[in-house]
Amino acid sequence: MFAALGTRLLHALDPETAHRIALLALARGLVRRDATPDPPILAAHLWDRVFANPIGLAAGFDKNGLAIDGALALGVGFAEIGGVTPRPQAGNPRPRLFRLSEDRAIINRLGLNSDGADPVAARVTARRRRDRPLGVNLASNTDSTDPVEDFAQLVARFAPIADFLTVDISCPNTRDGQQFLEPKALARLLARLTAVPARKRTAIPLLVKLSPDLEPERLARLVETALEGGVDGFVATNTTRARPSDLMSRHGAQAGGLSGRPLLARSTATLREVYRLCQNRVPIIGVGGVASALDAYAKLRAGASLVELYSALVYAGPGLIGRIKRELATMLERDGFATLAEAVGADHR
Ligand SMILES: Cc1cc2nc3c(=O)[nH]c(=O)nc-3n(C[C@H](O)[C@H](O)[C@H](O)COP(=O)(O)O)c2cc1C
Repeated sequence: MFAALGTRLLHALDPETAHRIALLALARGLVRRDATPDPPILAAHLWDRVFANPIGLAAGFDKNGLAIDGALALGVGFAEIGGVTPRPQAGNPRPRLFRLSEDRAIINRLGLNSDGADPVAARVTARRRRDRPLGVNLASNTDSTDPVEDFAQLVARFAPIADFLTVDISCPNTRDGQQFLEPKALARLLARLTAVPARKRTAIPLLVKLSPDLEPERLARLVETALEGGVDGFVATNTTRARPSDLMSRHGAQAGGLSGRPLLARSTATLREVYRLCQNRVPIIGVGGVASALDAYAKLRAGASLVELYSALVYAGPGLIGRIKRELATMLERDGFATLAEAVGADHR
């Protein structure tokens, strides 16, 4: 990333080092802030919270909450930090992060490297900016003997200090990262999480993050199970294990989750289906391959109430956020929508 340092300079470094430097620059306030007021048409009201605009940073960008204030200063309407695990863990051996520049994509198999809940919770508590909602993405430890209790512990820890929580059940990069993508297991997990006292007390929204690689029948069963289990929303989608045959980059065959441009169509198709299945019962955050206002608009029309992005920032830099917001506002007005909410799911009507 990032404009102040120069995307080209960062791309000369290995991706993990480059990302560390970009985060450090953000944390130190070295990246240009975007203080332009958001066009009122972009405002969203969800889960009793106000989002000044619907564009957010996706999980994985700031796994450990090292640059929360700096990231929120980029002009996003919200951010999701994490995935955070209860105890610290190192993740997979390096190399584990690959830029597929020709494809405007990333493959990662980081394997949920995390500082653990204690330091991340301390950073969340210490953040100064309170005007933009902050989500925390939760994951169990790879060597956990009781992943349900891992998630319960994380919900108890972060419910009092965050604006929404995302339960990541779709991580493609750990051995058991997708064990709850099975209806019975998901029902058991949600029964436990919705009963966590801190979550009940704070009424914090609990979201489930879905994979773009699910067969339609399994997706339908999971969505129904999650709704019956009391979730407040979905995040669609995580990275994909699939490899489109037209990938150009030499890294295309690396193992891990693929994100960025080649994920866009698959991820938006999943989002569209989740919206159809939900029948307006809960909001959905659309994420996967967004690199322009047109992509963000397509996610909204397919059923997303909010949109997140990560990979495109690596290629376009943080100025992308302001461009998306400006052009999105123009598109909504051009098509006769008075509010963002009116455009959500417009393709289905
Ligand atoms: C390097 C990297 C790390 C990620 N880590 C996480 C994570 O810890 N938890 C999670 O739910 N998603 C994680 N994601 C997935 C993103 O949140 C997002 O769902 C995915 O990248 C698709 O969005 P994009 O195409 O805009 O990047 C990660 C993605 C990348 C590229």
